[in-house]
Amino acid sequence: MTPILPSFDLSVFKARRQRLLATLAAQGGGIAIISTGRLKMRNADSPYPFRFNSSFYYLTGFNEPDAWLILEARPQGTRSTLFCQPKDPKMEIWEGLLWGPEEATTTFGFDQAFDCHDLSTWLPQALIGHQHVWAPLTHSATPDLMVQLQAWLSHAKASTRGLKRVPTQINDLTPVLSDMRVIKDAAECDMMHQSAYIAAQAHRQAMRVARAGLAEFALEAEILKIFRQHGAQSPAYETIVATGQNACILHHRAGPSLMQDGDLVLIDAGCELNGYASDITRTFPANGRFSGPQATLYDIVLAAQQAAIEFTSPAHHFNAGHDAAVRVITQGLIDEGLLKGSLDSQIEQETYKQFYMHRTGHWLGLDVHDVGRYRELPIDSASAVDGEVSAAPAWRQLEPGMVLTIEPGIYVRPHEDIPEQFWHIGIRIEDDALVTPNGCELLTRDVPVERSAIEALMAESG
Ligand code: GLY
Ligand code: MN
Ligand code: MN
Repeated sequence: MTPILPSFDLSVFKARRQRLLATLAAQGGGIAIISTGRLKMRNADSPYPFRFNSSFYYLTGFNEPDAWLILEARPQGTRSTLFCQPKDPKMEIWEGLLWGPEEATTTFGFDQAFDCHDLSTWLPQALIGHQHVWAPLTHSATPDLMVQLQAWLSHAKASTRGLKRVPTQINDLTPVLSDMRVIKDAAECDMMHQSAYIAAQAHRQAMRVARAGLAEFALEAEILKIFRQHGAQSPAYETIVATGQNACILHHRAGPSLMQDGDLVLIDAGCELNGYASDITRTFPANGRFSGPQATLYDIVLAAQQAAIEFTSPAHHFNAGHDAAVRVITQGLIDEGLLKGSLDSQIEQETYKQFYMHRTGHWLGLDVHDVGRYRELPIDSASAVDGEVSAAPAWRQLEPGMVLTIEPGIYVRPHEDIPEQFWHIGIRIEDDALVTPNGCELLTRDVPVERSAIEALMAESG
């Protein structure tokens, strides 16, 4: 017996392996080693739920712990090898069915697969003859991986007694993988649409049931219920439900605070569907009606988001949306008396950071803060004209297939210089955008964002 096959096409994973192998071949070939990680204990004998390594999953679609992918690019051809847990009927009674190497080979399209317990004897032999080893060195497991790699390389060297080539260089696979993952293929776009749809339904549900007297954790429960009802495996990150002044804490975890009449409620919640994250924030009034000061600041944030959306296209670089949002927010804060001075001087002095201290977006994908460079590659210092190398390379140009969040906010902490009517208001509005050839598509607009539409939805039911 084998696990249930996922409902999506597994051939995309093989195609990604082939693309990666072609890239490695073009860079001198070698052997790439990617681990998915192990089950970690939470306490006593209870593990944390296992979550695969994103890059490993991107290349395999395989979601069991204790698995390794080995890709080899040699002049005479390529080879993909999976190491995974062997079938174990006794353990499978407790923990669920495993694929095992034999079934995994055919189902997931590897050239071969073996028992993970044999990796340490197989790998030193496989290293022999390659010039380069590739591994994701900036991965969080790097210290362990480096120790392991060095041990395998020493073992390989000892076994050849200097007669055959053993790699002398360990290359970082992270930039290569990040450049692939930052541009989403059709299968990924489809999954991200679905993940975004589920998260939007969860936010709608929260708006429908919210009312004064309800605890933050009760709204969290509604959100998690919708995620699971739609088949999402988990939240993509800890669900943020922040009522009243808690909304000024950017990552406030849903807790026991009760929503009060007159509070705004900020919810930042997204799910993970087959690895793919959604990331939505909505801010709405607990009693269903925005007050005057809340409405004023809300409309500034919404206008800032709209400005950023207009700069989210291949005609602009990554930071253009942030610059646009900062201008709108700063002008709004000046208009309402929270900042004093000219627009340009306040932007120059970054005074807006008292109220808007985070950035307007980040890449989104298998990781909620997904991989990918935010800047162009540095100019090669050898080819740069003297004195023309700037400290930071230019912001990266957006390209079709990139997915990023657009999430401006305003957070007002009490201060004698700030009109009291705005104290403790925290507002963030966050949508997920897929860059298209001519602009962007917002994936998360199944939940309303205009004040009037939010109020209408909240009035629908209680
Ligand atoms: N939910 C985390 C973020 O918005 O970046
Ligand atoms: Mn975000
Ligand atoms: Mn978020």
